[in-house]
Amino acid sequence: MAARVLITRPIPEPGASLIERVAEVAMCVREDRSPTRDELIAAIADADILLCLLTETIDAEILDAAPKCKLVANMAVGYNNIDVAAATRRGIIVTNTPGVLTEATADLTWALILASARRVVEGDEEMRTGRFHGWGPFYMLGVDVFGKTLGLVGPGRIAQAAARRAVGFRMNLLYRGRKASPELEELGAKHVELDDLLRESDFVSLHTPLNAETRHLIDRRALELMKPTAYLINTARGPVVDEAALVEALKNGTIAGAGLDVYEDEPRIAEGLAACPNATLLPHLGSATAETRSAMARIAAENVVAFLTGSRPSNTVNPEVY
Ligand code: GLV
Repeated sequence: MAARVLITRPIPEPGASLIERVAEVAMCVREDRSPTRDELIAAIADADILLCLLTETIDAEILDAAPKCKLVANMAVGYNNIDVAAATRRGIIVTNTPGVLTEATADLTWALILASARRVVEGDEEMRTGRFHGWGPFYMLGVDVFGKTLGLVGPGRIAQAAARRAVGFRMNLLYRGRKASPELEELGAKHVELDDLLRESDFVSLHTPLNAETRHLIDRRALELMKPTAYLINTARGPVVDEAALVEALKNGTIAGAGLDVYEDEPRIAEGLAACPNATLLPHLGSATAETRSAMARIAAENVVAFLTGSRPSNTVNPEVY
C-alpha cells in the first residue's frame, strides 16, 4: 500500500507533485490558511509522513495523534514550531529546508536596514498623504549606512549572506557566535562578545535560531547596551526579542529604531509597536519570493521522497534518530 503523506496546507510547486509520484498525498486544508489543531489531529491519524509549515505547532499531543508518523518535513529553515525532542523520543525524523532561503532573507535584512536608516516607509507615507511640500535641508533626515558598523548576532548562512552585502557598503563587521566563523572572518568580520557587539554596532541584526538560549536574548538590558543612534533588525524569530521591552526602548529613545520582520506572538504585535514611527514593520516576508518559496517546497518534498525511497533525507535536524 502506498505511503500516506499529509500536507498541512497548499504549498507551491514543485511540492505535492513530486511526492505524488511515490505516495498518496492528502491536504489537511485546501484553503490558504493553517489548519486548526482539531483539523490537524483529525487528519493526521493515518499519516505516515507529515509535511508542515512554520504556521503549525507540532508538539507531543499532535505527534501522539499520529501513531504511524515516521517523518515530519518542515517547509522552513527554522524548526522551533516542532518539538524536536518529542519527535526524537518517538523515533520520528524531522527535516527542514536550509540553504535555499539564505539569499532572499539576507535581501530582506538589507531592505530593513536601508528602510530604517533612510526612513523609506515614512517617506512613502509623506508622498501619499500630500505632506511633501518640497525639498528642505532639514527635512526627513536619516543616517548613513555606508561605512557604519554592522553587528551580526549568529554566525550562520543568513548572517554570512547579509555580511557579503555589507562589504559593498564598506561596513565594519562584528559578529557573535559560539565559535569563530571562517566565512565571516574572510569577509573581515571580528568575533566579539555579545555585549561588545551591542555597544559598538550601528545596526544590530539578528540571525539566531530560536531556542531556550536565544529566547529574549535581546531584552531590556541588551537594548540599553545599544547606542541611542543604533537600529535593531530582526529577520530571525520574534521571541529572540522581548517585544514589550523593545517598544519601551523605541518610545524612550534608548535606540534609534528597529526593522522587524518577525514578532513574538505572530500574527499579533506588541501593544504600542504599531504607533512607533521609528519601527519599520514587515509581515514575516523573509523567504517570500516566488523563486525561494518554490525552492523551499521542492526541498521539503525531496526530503519526503528521499525517505520513502530508502535514503536518509539530507536535511535531518535530529540525526540521532538513526
Ligand atoms: C522562515 O522564517 C523559515 O524559517 O523558513
